[in-house]
Parts: sequence; C-alpha cells; structure tokens
Amino acid sequence: MRTFAIVNRKGGVGKTTTAVNLAYVLATGAHLRVLLVDADGQANATQIMLPAGEYAGLGALLRGMAICYDELVEHTDVSGLDVLPASADLWSLDLEAAAGDRGRSFRTVLDMREDLEEDDAYDVMIIDCPPNLGAACVASILASDCVIIPVLSDACSATGVADIVSQIESLRAMRPDLRVGGVLVNQWHRADIVEDAVAYLRESGAPVYDTVIRRTDKVVESSWSQVPVQVLSPFCSAARDYRAFAAELLAKEGIQYER
Ligand SMILES: Nc1ncnc2c1ncn2[C@@H]1O[C@H](COP(=O)(O)OP(=O)(O)O)[C@@H](O)[C@H]1O
Ligand SMILES: [Mg+2]
Repeated sequence: MRTFAIVNRKGGVGKTTTAVNLAYVLATGAHLRVLLVDADGQANATQIMLPAGEYAGLGALLRGMAICYDELVEHTDVSGLDVLPASADLWSLDLEAAAGDRGRSFRTVLDMREDLEEDDAYDVMIIDCPPNLGAACVASILASDCVIIPVLSDACSATGVADIVSQIESLRAMRPDLRVGGVLVNQWHRADIVEDAVAYLRESGAPVYDTVIRRTDKVVESSWSQVPVQVLSPFCSAARDYRAFAAELLAKEGIQYER
C-alpha cells in the first residue's frame, strides 16, 4: 500500500480538494482500493464524502481507543473508496499530546498502516492534513511514503515551499523512507504574476509536478454542494486536471492499476 499525505501549513491552498479528488479518481478511474483519511478537525473531506453524523474517527485512533481500524472506517457510495473520518475532538488532541506522551500518538497512524498492509486492505491511502504541524499532522506524515504539497499559483513563493520541505525532511530522522513527492500548483490561471511565480518556483529547484490544477468556480460550487468536482462537473478544467495529475502520480510512483 502506498501512502500520500497532502500537506501545507497554510489553509485554503487546496489540500482537501486535492485529497478528495485524487481519492475519487484513483478509485473510479484507476480501480484502486483507496482509503481517504481525514486528519483535519474541520472535517471538510468527511463532510464531502460521508453523510452528516458523529464519527469516532481519527481522534479515537490517535488516542489509542480503537482496537482495529475497521471500527473506524466508513464505506462511501463510491465503489473502492472508504473514509476514515475526522472527529471534532481532533482539535483538543494537541493540548493532550503536549501534556502527555506525545510519542505514543505519533506512532498510531503508522501502526494502523502496518495493520492495513498485513491485511492487504487497500492499494492507496491518502491523508488530508490540517493547516498546522500538530499531532494529527505529524502522525499522518510519519505514516506516509510521500508528501504532496499543494500551493496557490499566485503565492507559491519559493521560500515558503523550501520551509515546508525542510520541516518535512526534519521528520526523516523518525521515518527515513519519507519523501517529498512534489509541489502541486493549484488555482492556476493565465496571468503574468502566476506564470512568473511558477517559473520562479521551478527554477528554484523545487520538485514541481508537471500538471497544474486550473482555477475554476466549479471547484467552489462543488465545495458548497459538498461533492468532489469530479461529480459536480466531470469535464470542467480542474476535474480534467485532477485526472491528469492522478495519471502523472501513478506513473512517477510506479503504481500499477487497471485502466
Ligand atoms: N482549482 C480551484 N479553483 C477554484 N477554487 C478552488 C480550487 N481549489 C480549491 N478551491 C477553493 O479554495 C478553497 C480552499 O480549498 P481547500 O481544498 O478547502 O483548501 P485547504 O484544504 O488547503 O484549506 C475552497 O473554497 C475551494 O473550493
Ligand atoms: Mg482542508
């Protein structure tokens, strides 16, 4: 099983949009078995993929309250796509982690990953991270092979990206296999400031994916309707871009799939 964490300490850059649409495309287009993990207490990915309700979710896992992942995982109405929901109590976890045994909660997602691999339960796990490097985010990164960093196309400063890359690399002491897969430029549109920023980012040596996700109001509409843009408007620019990004990622990571 391959695990990707979608990470940026900034909010509003497209982490949730990327996690949800990548998970949807890998399940429906590539016929992979996908687990989408919602590690953000705002629970946006959970609200998009599951009916409204109270879920024990990732909070229970991080607190060591779940005996097995299958107590927490929910099926969606998309074949091949399951969700480990966020719970509102993810908010308070950092306070507890700071007060208590921080190292124990950091290992919980990695432990779950090992159980999932033993059971051959999924092909891909995608983790939608919160806009901070709190306990849920660090535990998620430590369970990942590869980090994908979405950035806004008109604010993708090379220095900001270098900071995130070095923060992730500092976690390699605890997980040596961890890699930064790349930077995914989001909300791309034709404007000098955007084209200059992206060129500057590429020249700075940051690992930028070839695919960029175009800006379209269809994505905003899909957030309001709480569905992936793949469902709301499958042929709009961003929906097509997410399919191209999924293909780029599968090829770069050497993941086999059925067409
Ligand atoms: N390609 C895009 N075009 C237009 N709006 C977008 C695009 N990607 C994301 N958005 C909008 O930007 C906002 C933040 O996106 P979101 O995925 O929730 O970011 P994050 O999870 O990083 O906070 C949402 O309202 C979303 O609809
Ligand atoms: Mg989000």
